[in-house]
Amino acid sequence: MLLRVENIDTYYGLSHILQGISLEVESGEIVTLVGRNGAGKTTTLKSILGITPIRSGRIWLREGDISALPTHAIIQRGISYVPEERRIIPGLTVRENLKLALLKSKNRDREPEMIDRVAQYFPILKERLSQHGTSLSGGEQQMLAIARGLVTDPEIMLVDEPTEGLMPLLVEMIAEIIQNINKTGVTVLLVEQNVEMALSVSHRAYVIDEGRIQSSGTAKDILADEDIQRRYLTV
Ligand SMILES: Nc1ncnc2c1ncn2[C@@H]1O[C@H](COP(=O)(O)OP(=O)(O)OP(=O)(O)O)[C@@H](O)[C@H]1O
Ligand SMILES: [Mg+2]
Repeated sequence: MLLRVENIDTYYGLSHILQGISLEVESGEIVTLVGRNGAGKTTTLKSILGITPIRSGRIWLREGDISALPTHAIIQRGISYVPEERRIIPGLTVRENLKLALLKSKNRDREPEMIDRVAQYFPILKERLSQHGTSLSGGEQQMLAIARGLVTDPEIMLVDEPTEGLMPLLVEMIAEIIQNINKTGVTVLLVEQNVEMALSVSHRAYVIDEGRIQSSGTAKDILADEDIQRRYLTV
């Protein structure tokens, strides 16, 4: 198993948000966490990354226990994060945004190679490397956010709602990009509210509601399960 989350509990102050979340991601998979607003999806990703530290439970990356590591050490072990809010740094070019992401990784001295490699997935970004990141369109900014997660050459990428606020055509493009990234050997843990998109690209899915995993299975099974759809996935 590449990533194993074992019975984690996370709090914001006194609020008990994650209540015993367990999930597993195998090397090579795309696994999606789906669920409504406020279900605990982002908190799950942030807990894996140590951004919101867990109060109990364990998190393993391969054989290594990463539960107590600081975020930068977790990133250096090969987990990357594409946050919900895209956080393109104002005043920096596309290239500089990518460089900044590289600084935190073990590949910091391989900049030209890494930027070239990432640009293969995003021809549009390649053309815009010297443009300010914030001058890009919404879709292009999302691509930059994903590209930033890739320059570090991660084993697994945690991607939070990459299609939020995008037009249908761009949603399809992002879905395709995620599949292409996965085909080159990067494992993906995806969080989405766009259930159809998410389940169409993923191998397996977990359904989360009120800080608990309510169901899991193949993407196909979850999509076909009307009861799950009604109870946990419709607004
Ligand atoms: N910084 C915070 N302080 C206090 N409570 C928070 C904080 N961030 C999130 N929460 C609460 O924790 C719960 C889970 O939030 P989380 O952001 O993980 O949900 P989500 O599934 O990602 O939702 P969304 O689809 O809206 O992004 C919600 O009830 C939310 O209000
Ligand atoms: Mg969220």
